[in-house]
Amino acid sequence: MKLKRLAETARPVIAFVLDGQPASALAGDTLLTAILANSDHVRRSEFDGGNRAGFCWMGACQDCWVTVEGAGRQRACTTYIAADMRIVRS
Ligand code: FES
Repeated sequence: MKLKRLAETARPVIAFVLDGQPASALAGDTLLTAILANSDHVRRSEFDGGNRAGFCWMGACQDCWVTVEGAGRQRACTTYIAADMRIVRS
């Protein structure tokens, strides 16, 4: 299930690319928020392939790694989105 924004919806829209597909976020979103506002998962479980959406959301659990083109592996919950960022999920 994707995140549904309930507040702060007036922030500027930022375009980014998620797994090669155009997507949009709001300025100030973390990658985790941006990804989950566009999709139902941030990565797939290495054990059963199930959807993962992060766990701690504060940089402690290692459950939200994504690859950002030009920046390597990043924790989605502690990295802010930027315009034209290209993100690849694992
Ligand atoms: S969700 Fe736990 S480190 Fe990102």
